Amino acid sequence: MKRMLSGIKPTGQLHLGNYIGALSKFVSYQDEYEMIAFIANLHCITVPQDPQELKKNLHDCVALYLACGLDPKKATIFLQTDVKEHAQLGYIMCCHTYMGELNRMTQFKDKQANGEKNLSGGLYTYPALMAADILIYDPDYVPVGEDQKQHVELTRDVAIRMNHRYGNLFKIPEPLIPKVGARIMSLSDPSKKMSKSDLTNKGCIYLLDDLKTARKKIMSAKTDSLGIVKYDPENQPGVSNLMQIMSSLSGNRPMAEIEQEFAGRGYGDFKRAVADVVCAELEKIQARYQEIVDSGMIDDVLREGAEKARSMAAPKLDLVQKAIGMEITAH
Ligand code: TYM
Repeated sequence: MKRMLSGIKPTGQLHLGNYIGALSKFVSYQDEYEMIAFIANLHCITVPQDPQELKKNLHDCVALYLACGLDPKKATIFLQTDVKEHAQLGYIMCCHTYMGELNRMTQFKDKQANGEKNLSGGLYTYPALMAADILIYDPDYVPVGEDQKQHVELTRDVAIRMNHRYGNLFKIPEPLIPKVGARIMSLSDPSKKMSKSDLTNKGCIYLLDDLKTARKKIMSAKTDSLGIVKYDPENQPGVSNLMQIMSSLSGNRPMAEIEQEFAGRGYGDFKRAVADVVCAELEKIQARYQEIVDSGMIDDVLREGAEKARSMAAPKLDLVQKAIGMEITAH
């Protein structure tokens, strides 16, 4: 069985972009692949966090993994800090990553270009930690949204470099980017990605938004004055984004079919139909979320997941440390 690994960094509440671009894919792959899905809490603190809020977001993230359908009997689910090998290999990866490579990473560059002050060293070096998160499990594939592709490519480059230098240490993983829904855009500004750091809160649908709020956000989504439901991301980015959302939540329904259904009808009708699809999905997830929170199963899932993950990560860290000459005992 081929292995797959991915993670989410809950710096805020999970949103529809995370679900469509990543989480829903983890769920659909778990039968076919050995799935490792972790919560990237070390990555959260690369930007300032309120401790109480972070704790709640981490808890909700695990509950949402399960509510969206990840099955702890099939997938290994754990918190990154419960497997300390990530941080240790992260440091080693950092020492094998060039500053020139980190300088090219768009997430850091964007924050710097926005004039954000006091950016942390952790934010700058986080792609090296992400490389460790991946390589420590030798996955074949890394399912992610479009914005993480660059980081997986860096991971490959550093792995190839280290394999060259020390012998075969790591499997070279492939990023797996969905054809539809790899980059869900903000509803209020479809030139920007839907993101947890949306300050207006209008462009982002959170998985735990109440249904009325979610519907309102879709009904007021920015479209255009053409009045035609057509998949044309360049000229009709708002409409095309809503079509992507609709398509990916209805089994990758072809765009031509959606265009046909709404031919000659206004955006009002179309938005109502998108809102129906989104709200039906959220309703299912939220009902399951509540059951999971009430069941108190989260601690057990994380404990078992961490044990399983550690049994894979520890021998790999050992192998790497020996190969680079850092261990002096024979054990
Ligand atoms: P994060 O938490 O920003 O995003 C989690 C996943 O959601 C995808 N995503 C989107 N997909 C479609 N449309 C959007 N608007 C959208 N926004 C986010 C992301 O591409 C991602 O797949 N660095 C990672 C977390 C991480 C990780 C890893 C991932 C840490 N270590 C190892 C994979 C493997 C991050 O910040 O994702």
